[in-house]
Amino acid sequence: MERVVVPAEAAGEVGQQASLRPRYFAEYIGQAALKRKLEVFVAAAKARGEPLDHTLLHGPPGLGKTTMGHILANELGVQIHLTSGPAIEHKGVLAGHLTALGARDVLFIDEIHRLSPTVEESLYSAMEDGRIDLPVGEGSRARTINIDLQPFTLIGATTRTAMLSGPLRDRFQIVEGIELYGDDELAQIVRRTASILGFPIADAGAIEIGRRSRGTPRIANRLTRRVRDFAQVRGDSEIDEEGASRALDSLGIDKEGLDAADRRLLTMIIEGFDGGPVGVEALAASLGEPRDTLEAVYEPFLLQRGFLLRTPRGRVATLKAARHLGLPLPGPLGGAQGSLSV
Ligand code: ADE
Repeated sequence: MERVVVPAEAAGEVGQQASLRPRYFAEYIGQAALKRKLEVFVAAAKARGEPLDHTLLHGPPGLGKTTMGHILANELGVQIHLTSGPAIEHKGVLAGHLTALGARDVLFIDEIHRLSPTVEESLYSAMEDGRIDLPVGEGSRARTINIDLQPFTLIGATTRTAMLSGPLRDRFQIVEGIELYGDDELAQIVRRTASILGFPIADAGAIEIGRRSRGTPRIANRLTRRVRDFAQVRGDSEIDEEGASRALDSLGIDKEGLDAADRRLLTMIIEGFDGGPVGVEALAASLGEPRDTLEAVYEPFLLQRGFLLRTPRGRVATLKAARHLGLPLPGPLGGAQGSLSV
């Protein structure tokens, strides 16, 4: 059974990525509205001596759903137990996790949309009634034991709320989205990361990396490390705008923050499907990517920045995308995007 139990206080010391993780709300940059709400819910639960209500966090990968899970546990002063939907192979595994929880602890299930239906069903009674029914023994000795659980908080994380069943979604009392970060927030995250790594960075260097990070802190942190490598090898004493820009160009991240996969997707719509509309399934098949990855990983940023439109008849590449890629936008939509209904 895969189980990671992390004393909440020490969570920041585990692994490279984790050491950059903010551990408390005060260190967390961005998502101001979400943070304000969660701070209230945590303070209220603590004052009542109760666990935080079950919480569902949804949003694209790399935006800090797991980080927020750690912060919630730290702020509540409890332990966090980490697992994921696919790792909970059967009811017994779930029971193992649930019975290991201390009072008011957090059970964090990543990719909760990937739980099997039977596991999901046993989660219902755990969430609602604080108990779990477990079949034991076989044949004539088969029986069910009912286990009472400590009061706990389930934090579910998903990139795909649409793939969550209605009954599961309804059992979360707190449902919140994490959104793509603004460029200035990402610049702040880059500055914080560079300072933890002990590498000097000019404001303009941090802004350049932030701007090209697809609205995603995980990408900002990865690019910061790579840009630092370039700066170090060039013998630069700090990351400035020019150094950052040159390094990002070398990494294949263009001025708008698009990477090779983004450009391939947009080029496929423009050259392979006359600019669209193209159904998401056909697009996914042409790119050799699961539809899920397309919708959860690539599209949110391209939609937000106006490179892509979602229409009832499928995906459409915008004029902005065509111009950025230096491609003509063929087909009837070439000059008529202003009149498209989305
Ligand atoms: N590192 C990754 N995400 C962060 C965030 N939201 N705030 C501060 N540091 C981070």
